[in-house]
Amino acid sequence: MADKDDSVTSGQVEGPKEEKAEFSLRPRTLKQYLGQKRVKKEMAVYIKAAKQRDEALDHVLLYGPPGLGKTTLAFVIANELGVHLKSTSGPAIEKAGDLVALLTDLDPGDVLFIDEIHRLAKPIEEVLYSAMEDYYIDIVIGEGQTTHAVHVPLPPFTLVGATTLAGQLSAPLRDRFGIVEHLQYYNVDELEQIILRSSEVFHTKIAPEAAPELARRSRGTPRVANRLLRRVRDFAEVKGEKVISLETTERALKQLQVDDAGLDQTDRKILRTMIESYGGGPVGVRTLAANVSEDVETIESLYEPYLLQHGFILLTPRGRIATDKAYLQLGLPVPNED
Ligand SMILES: Nc1ncnc2c1ncn2[C@@H]1O[C@H](COP(=O)(O)OP(=O)(O)OP(=O)(O)O)[C@@H](O)[C@H]1O
Ligand SMILES: [Mg+2]
Repeated sequence: MADKDDSVTSGQVEGPKEEKAEFSLRPRTLKQYLGQKRVKKEMAVYIKAAKQRDEALDHVLLYGPPGLGKTTLAFVIANELGVHLKSTSGPAIEKAGDLVALLTDLDPGDVLFIDEIHRLAKPIEEVLYSAMEDYYIDIVIGEGQTTHAVHVPLPPFTLVGATTLAGQLSAPLRDRFGIVEHLQYYNVDELEQIILRSSEVFHTKIAPEAAPELARRSRGTPRVANRLLRRVRDFAEVKGEKVISLETTERALKQLQVDDAGLDQTDRKILRTMIESYGGGPVGVRTLAANVSEDVETIESLYEPYLLQHGFILLTPRGRIATDKAYLQLGLPVPNED
């Protein structure tokens, strides 16, 4: 199988500088990929077996909230397989021809990574079915009288799909992934390790008591941990601090409006809206989205899962409700139950 390749694009929606920094922070091997122990253990077995059989790895679906390492893991998988990775995203594939071009360009065993796979257009998704199942595509070319069907055989390949909203994937597509992995929020120890690793990449030193504090306030998310580390490092540098101290970390986080539970401004705005404008709920997601000026998808994939996991909100059939913990976090009196 082919050599590894770095000539890949990433679909992050961040500034070019941050994007570059994020790329350099990305672990390249399963060993460097911290946390997600169960996922890693399973993937190590599947990758080893595929290599032993000299076959393409079965198609992999990675899902979970933004910033937990789906894109990173896709690259790690290709790297561990020793194959190329071609990267695209659901909304970027406009015509069946785009997909054919991507697929016919692959070497046997290569990985095609489709980010935001829940946003694939339906006709493209249908073309993908036969590609995934039997490695061929039938397409119709030409117009009017010159129309003819073409049967395009494909090299055996691995589709790695990533999504923040697995619920929006159609059943036929989901069923064609042999391997489905749900990425979970990271615990504080894992985030601390990620912060320590990143600070090495940045050639920055962080005090032993500052790293866990940063980890605790990173929303269970490596991307957030790395972002906060960069900002805290800015504060430390401006202060002329050689080692990022706990004091500077706390001051920076306060300035960034990240509270002691790791909630950011939007998290708190969501809770405050539920409590102050809707008496604690139930509130529908559309209403919430409109009130905090975010789109529904962002609320559902980014904010809600964390607030739910940490017990700040509950989902009921009639909508979200704020829990007592939410009132306490905002310093508001908890309403009497009756
Ligand atoms: N397991 C990990 N170990 C170390 N660093 C990680 C890990 N997972 C993610 N990261 C870091 O977090 C950053 C964000 O990860 P990544 O871009 O892979 O998330 P994602 O799940 O693809 O997010 P999105 O849903 O927004 O596309 C990466 O640049 C990487 O530095
Ligand atoms: Mg990604």
